[in-house]
Amino acid sequence: MIEVQNVTKIYKLNKKQMEEQKASASMKIAVKNVSLTAQEGEIFGVLGPNGAGKTTLLRCISTLLNPTEGSILVNGHDTVKEGDQVRQSLAFLTNEVKMDPHFSPKYLFRFFGRLYGIPEDVITERQKELFEHFNITEFEDKRVEELSTGMKQKVSIAVSLVHDPGIVIFDEPTNGLDIITARAVTDYLKLLKERGKLVIISTHIMPEAQKLCDRMAMIIQGSCVFQGTLEEALVQTHAEDLEDAFFELYRQTMEVEA
Ligand SMILES: Nc1ncnc2c1ncn2[C@@H]1O[C@H](COP(=O)(O)OP(=O)(O)O)[C@@H](O)[C@H]1O
Ligand SMILES: [Mg+2]
Repeated sequence: MIEVQNVTKIYKLNKKQMEEQKASASMKIAVKNVSLTAQEGEIFGVLGPNGAGKTTLLRCISTLLNPTEGSILVNGHDTVKEGDQVRQSLAFLTNEVKMDPHFSPKYLFRFFGRLYGIPEDVITERQKELFEHFNITEFEDKRVEELSTGMKQKVSIAVSLVHDPGIVIFDEPTNGLDIITARAVTDYLKLLKERGKLVIISTHIMPEAQKLCDRMAMIIQGSCVFQGTLEEALVQTHAEDLEDAFFELYRQTMEVEA
C-alpha cells in the first residue's frame, strides 16, 4: 500500500535551468500538496500532460527524491527515514535503458539476482518466466549492445523485476516502444495485478489509462485535480471517455487559474 500525504516538491533552479524553462523565479513547484492512496491488486494511474509533475511524484515514492513537504508511506515505511525497507518492496522502471552494453541479458539478470541475495534456483525460475514472456530467451547470451532498442528495453524491465517486488512503479510504460513490445509490457502489468501486486504507472495517453487503470489521479500543474475510478471521472465531468474527462478537468483548472 502506498500513502502519499500532502506531498510538495520544489526544485531550486540554477541560471541555466531558469533560461531553459523560461522561469522568472528560482524555484519550481513541481508537485503541489498531493495526497493519494493506492492498494495491492490494482493498477493505479498517475495521469497528466507533460510537465505536470508525474515523474517527480513517482521518484519521490521510489525514494529517488525526497519530498520538500509532506510524507510518503510504502507498506507503512517512510520513504525518507526507512528508504532501505521501501526499496526492497518496490521496483522503479522507466524506458530509459541504463545497462552495461558489454554484458548479456542472462549475466545481468543473474548478477542483480545475486546482489539481492536471491537463491540460484529462484533466479533461474524468474529468469525463465520473464525471459519467456518478453521473448528474450533467444537473445539471452548476446551482448546488450548487439540488441535492438525494443529488446534492450525489455531486458531492462526483466532485470528490474528480478527481486519480484510487491509494488511496481513504471514511469510512462509504453513510451517509445513499438506496438508489439508495448503490448507485452501492458500484458505483464495486468499479470502482476492479477497476482495481487500494486502497479503504479504514469502516462499522458488517456486511452491507454482508460484500458489499464483501476483507479487514477489526474495531475495538472503539480496539483491533483481528481482521484478515483474511470466511472467516477466520467460521472463527475459528464464525459464519454477519459480523454474528454481529462480535457474537462483541464478546462476547469485553467478557468479557476484565470
Ligand atoms: N531536476 C529538476 N530540476 C528543476 N526542475 C525540474 C527538474 N525535474 C523536473 N523539473 C520541472 O518540474 C516540472 C515537472 O516535471 P516532471 O515531474 O518531469 O513532469 P512530467 O513527468 O509530468 O512530465 C516541470 O516543469 C519540469 O521542467
Ligand atoms: Mg515524466
